Amino acid sequence: SNLRDKLFEINKEAAGYFYVALRKGNDSSGMEYLSKRNLSEDTLKKFGLGFAPKNSKELYNYLKSKSYSDEDLSKSGLFNHSETNGFYNKFWNRVIFPIMNVNNKVIGFGGRVMGQGEPKYLNSPETEIFDKSRNLYGLNIARTSRKNYFILCEGYMDVISLHQAGVDNALASLGTAFTSGQAELIKRYKKDVLISYDNDNAGIKATIRAISILRNAGLSPKVINLAPYKDPDEFIKGLGLEEFENRIQNARNGFLFEIDQLKKEYNLEDPAEKTLFYNEIAKKLVGFSEELERNNYIEAVAREFMIEYESLRNLVNRLGLSY
Ligand code: UTP
Ligand code: MN
Ligand code: MN
Ligand code: MN
Ligand code: MN
Repeated sequence: SNLRDKLFEINKEAAGYFYVALRKGNDSSGMEYLSKRNLSEDTLKKFGLGFAPKNSKELYNYLKSKSYSDEDLSKSGLFNHSETNGFYNKFWNRVIFPIMNVNNKVIGFGGRVMGQGEPKYLNSPETEIFDKSRNLYGLNIARTSRKNYFILCEGYMDVISLHQAGVDNALASLGTAFTSGQAELIKRYKKDVLISYDNDNAGIKATIRAISILRNAGLSPKVINLAPYKDPDEFIKGLGLEEFENRIQNARNGFLFEIDQLKKEYNLEDPAEKTLFYNEIAKKLVGFSEELERNNYIEAVAREFMIEYESLRNLVNRLGLSY
């Protein structure tokens, strides 16, 4: 529609403004921050990174000079509005990450504070052209990789660092909880996905949720172990591409990853807790409706968690019958 086209145009102009402000503005703090994070000029260009200066009116005035209406500008999500100040920038004194759709059109922005501050990342609100649940950051680039799988990360910096290091199939779920719409998007372009969320409690929880959503979409996700690092950005800086590729090779089957996490909740020295643990595993195994697949998982779980195969199989089959 007309409004959508206008919003694409406004975003493109804004991205250009941020891009120039990063390089030519009189405030060099954005460039200093990005350099400290080891991003090369090629990378800045590839991802169109920019800077939102402290001046809270400049972008508005710039877009007005291009004759966009207040109504369209307000629907762009780039501005806040108050009676006394009129339109002023939502993004202010932050480095800017334009978010592109698969067609390389700017649909929204993320802005990071330089150093400490809350919120760490500010994102465009949902607009006519920005639906967070149906986009993936970096998909426009990662889809062109020759690999047949994606690396799914949490954040902007993870995607950018991985690409800079030579991992050309990384993308991110835009910080929001992973959705079935994003799973469908992944399926449209590649047949596999390795999850590389942060190695902290929030990241592990989000991983478990993403596994279930991806599996419901018919994919078989695996999980990359980033230890001892916290996220892919830190990992690739610490251990480099070769070790990251090792971790890709050794990615953990999603189901077994779930059992790894479940195991942490039980004291297996205690026979009662151990029994509960096995029952929980068996319940999950019942979820595999294909007999062959279920048997393969029973076998793998029995082996990996040192459970007697026959007893586990009997337990699963008994539970299966009672459903
Ligand atoms: P993280 O907190 O893991 O940040 O959030 P990060 O990506 O490692 O950031 P750096 O390395 O400190 O710069 C992961 C992602 O979650 C979203 C962003 O997309 C971020 O990249 N996020 C995080 C937000 O949208 N808002 C926030 O306040 C924090
Ligand atoms: Mn995180
Ligand atoms: Mn965090
Ligand atoms: Mn992180
Ligand atoms: Mn990080």
